Amino acid sequence: MDRLTLLADPAVRSAFGRELGRAIEYHASIGSTQDRARELARNGVAQATVVVADQQTAGHGRGERSWLSEPGASLLASWTFRPAPAEPAFFTLLAGVAVARALRPFGVAGAGLKWPNDVWLSNGKIAGVLAHGTGDHLVIGIGVNVSQRELPRELATIATTLVRAGHDIDRLALLARITKELDAVADPANRDAALAEWRTRSITLDREVEVSGAGGAPFRGKAIALADDGALVVETPYGRRRVIAGEVRVLG
Ligand code: BTN
Repeated sequence: MDRLTLLADPAVRSAFGRELGRAIEYHASIGSTQDRARELARNGVAQATVVVADQQTAGHGRGERSWLSEPGASLLASWTFRPAPAEPAFFTLLAGVAVARALRPFGVAGAGLKWPNDVWLSNGKIAGVLAHGTGDHLVIGIGVNVSQRELPRELATIATTLVRAGHDIDRLALLARITKELDAVADPANRDAALAEWRTRSITLDREVEVSGAGGAPFRGKAIALADDGALVVETPYGRRRVIAGEVRVLG
């Protein structure tokens, strides 16, 4: 049974928020939880908050893309952190680890991470992470495909959902686990272990990749390392390149 919509009840919201150590703002439908959480953070709301929605009508993905989600079928949430635990691009990597870890207690053991922000199961992308920040605060948005049995044609070849992979998971319980794991990776004491786990779970390292949108022309090479600052190190015929932003396509 999926219990996420119970958050519409203020008493449930406040009890669950106490359990999470955060204020919860719940929307049956909103344009984007990320826009709303960024608005709260920009307005100086000091309390750690998670904005969660049953449905988004204008969700954002990385790089100006939109994030499509069938109503009621995804976990769609954005968490605020103040002060910012890390730079947005770096925290994106840590958040990927947090999502992969959060899935484990539900029996999803082998989640892989594609640089910088995608969480994959063997048959496709299951979740994406989006981070924004300005130095004093960070907003991290996560979308997890949970219970869609069918996906729109444009997503069907690259994405999957937890239910299609055989996992029937309650979005409220997943929200709690992800929150706990995000708070764990936000602690600097846990950072090295989280980066090490990123490397272990990586489906990008040791693969031939094509990098685009990193400034300059697209290029190909072998992804050989994740640097400690989160950059992807790519060995090309013309030398090593450090990729700190851009799109990476795994070729083989
Ligand atoms: C990506 O893989 O491109 C990142 C996708 C991030 C989607 C989530 S859904 C909750 C939050 N609100 C948004 O508008 N985007 C993020």
